[in-house]
Order: sequence, then C-alpha cells, then structure tokens
Amino acid sequence: MKVAERIKNLPPYVFATVEKRIAAQQAKGVDVISLGIGSPDLKPPQFIIDALNQSANRDDTHGYAGYYGTPALRKAIAGYYERRFGVTLDPNTEARPLIGSKEGLANMAFAFVDPGDLVLASDPGYPTYRMGALMAGGDHYAMPLLEENDYLVDFNGIPDVVADKATLMWLNYPNNPTGAGAPMDFLERAVAFAKKHDIVICYDNPYCDLCFDGYVAPSILQVKGAKDVTVEFNSLSKTYNMAGWRVGMAVGNAEAIDALTTLKTNIDSGIFRPLQDASVAALNGDQSWIAERNLIYQRRRDIILSWLPKLGMSAYMPKGALYVWAKVPAGQDCEQYAIAMLEKAGVWLTPGTAFGEYGKGFLRISLCVPEARLKEAGERLLKV
Ligand SMILES: Cc1ncc(COP(=O)(O)O)c(C=O)c1O
Repeated sequence: MKVAERIKNLPPYVFATVEKRIAAQQAKGVDVISLGIGSPDLKPPQFIIDALNQSANRDDTHGYAGYYGTPALRKAIAGYYERRFGVTLDPNTEARPLIGSKEGLANMAFAFVDPGDLVLASDPGYPTYRMGALMAGGDHYAMPLLEENDYLVDFNGIPDVVADKATLMWLNYPNNPTGAGAPMDFLERAVAFAKKHDIVICYDNPYCDLCFDGYVAPSILQVKGAKDVTVEFNSLSKTYNMAGWRVGMAVGNAEAIDALTTLKTNIDSGIFRPLQDASVAALNGDQSWIAERNLIYQRRRDIILSWLPKLGMSAYMPKGALYVWAKVPAGQDCEQYAIAMLEKAGVWLTPGTAFGEYGKGFLRISLCVPEARLKEAGERLLKV
C-alpha cells in the first residue's frame, strides 16, 4: 500500500493522539478529568432541539440538501451578522454554510494554496491553520503571539519577503488558546497589511459570542473595506453548544467564497437538512440564554484562576473563548508536566506546544467541565 507523501509528512492530529492517551488511563480504571478539548458540555436550548426533531420527522428532509445551504440558512446567517455586528452580507454570494468550520479552514488551504505558497498563521494557534497549508503542499510561517503584545500579531515583525510570498493569513480572536481579544485598531492594521501584500485574511471567529466580564468581540468585517480581502469563519459549535452537530459558516469576500464552494462541491454534498433547519432556529431565535451560559463559563474560569497560583502558575485573564492559558511552573517542560499530571493526578491539561512552537511553557485549560469537577481537578493537582 502506497500512502501519499501528504499523509506521511502529516503529524497525527494532536487531539486524536490525546484521546488515545486518556483512553489508556481510563482502561486502567482512572477517572480522568479532561480539561483538554473545547467541546461544550452543555446542551443547546430546547427550541433548537425541537426544530431538529420537527424537521427530522418530515418526509422530505432526508435527501441531499444541496451544495450551497438552504436559502433560509444563508438568510439566517446574513441576519445574524447584521444584528450582531451591523455587517451586511449578500446571502447568495457572501454567506456559505460549512460542515463545521474546521472543514472550511482545511478546504480554504486547498482552494488558495499551491505547492510552494506560504501561509501566515498565528502561533500558538488552532492546528488546522498550519496543517491545511502542509496538506495543500505549502509552507507555513509562524506569527508569534506574545504575552508582551497582549497576544496580538506584530505585523511590523513580518519581513516583506515573507509577506509578499503569502497567499493566506490566519487570525483568530477571541483567541484559542490564549483568550485574548482583538481591538478594532488591530483589525484595521490587519486589513491594511493584507491589502498591501495581496493576502487573503482568514479571520476565525468561532468564539465571538463567548466573552467574559462584559467584553463584546467584533467581526473583522466591521472594518471598512475588510470584505475586499477577508473571509470570516464562524461556527454554531461554541455559540450554541452545538459542536457535535457540525454546522459552521464562511462569510465575506464573494470571490473567495466562490473558490471555496467550487472545491467543496467536489468534496461534500451539503449539510443534513434538519441540522440546517435547527441552525436557522438557533440563529433567528432568542439569544438571551447565551449571556447566562457565558456566566457559567466565567465562574468556571474563576475557579481555575483560583487554584493556579497554589500550583505555582500564573495565567492570562481571558477576554473570551473557552480556555485559561497558564504558564507552567518555572523550569518545567509543558509536555512533561501535562503527561505527569495525567498519570499522577488523572487530570489532563493540554500542553501549549500542541498549538505551535510559541506555546512552549504554557498549558491550555478548558472551561468545558462542571464546577464540581473543576474543583476536584484543582485538589488532585495540588495533592500531586
Ligand atoms: C479557533 C478554532 N477554530 C475553529 C474551530 C473548529 O470549530 P468547528 O469545526 O466545530 O466549527 C475550533 C474548535 O475548537 C477552534 O478553536
């Protein structure tokens, strides 16, 4: 069997490896508390589940649902962007549903990266940014997110020769893993930089509605002229507790969305219709529960922040997303620390290096675990 070089050169997806490591501990009877992945543990409100059921009970919703998303879903996406950000989108050309946004992130690379092309990706960052580039035969350039810059990309630090070679640039705020937010003047600088160097901005915004302490995250499409160079990716996974449902979206530049769609029509056959109908209900329905749900995450954040200093760790105060980004105790290696804690305390924390070289020395701690388990995790870690 000859496996493609593309696969041979691809490291295994980091969270798939972690799943195996945790399963090995569980097989030994350990009650593992995983603070690894950002998979919401709460369910969507009943009206979304009812919409799914109603649609699934119909006779005419089980065939292929079309390549472009239902008109109702595209309209709901445009309506959400108008209400939430004051951004106007043409539902036909500037809004495209995705089978979860991860699909769109990976396919974006195949639509825009030729062998030898360069992709700028913030680091630490969501692994698909750099893996997409690799899979498409391109290279990636790590744009460091540093604490002293509030985890914002320093565009002045990117050499012109690098910027001129790049076709795509990945930015993500509220940021996974650091929890940093992007001020508007930063987003304006990003758009100006992309225009200067003829780069498509891929703005990954799945945490825009997961914010703390009153912070309201923007869309980059609020920047004047951003649509000329930007595709924004968004998702129902985190906002609506629908991670397993696999519904995301690409919005913004019509030409780029068209290229992505051309690729996708040759790869997938759209989203199961009842999921689309339920997504319409989610986007058009009552949004007030989101603020209450965010308070649950905020309380969990504060529990983690309360036990970290006792473990000799400091952390960045996240503005949004689903994580606490903590510095490992001085002199310790983050991967060794995480493995030791899994084996000795039965608590899994993701080492920062899972998100790139600039994650060295950090741990990402997920908020997707109930308060009682978080307290127990803290106690177990402290004991070890
Ligand atoms: C920054 C970021 N982008 C994209 C995704 C993918 O989300 P989904 O494919 O569920 O829409 C995630 C999931 O954790 C994420 O953290």
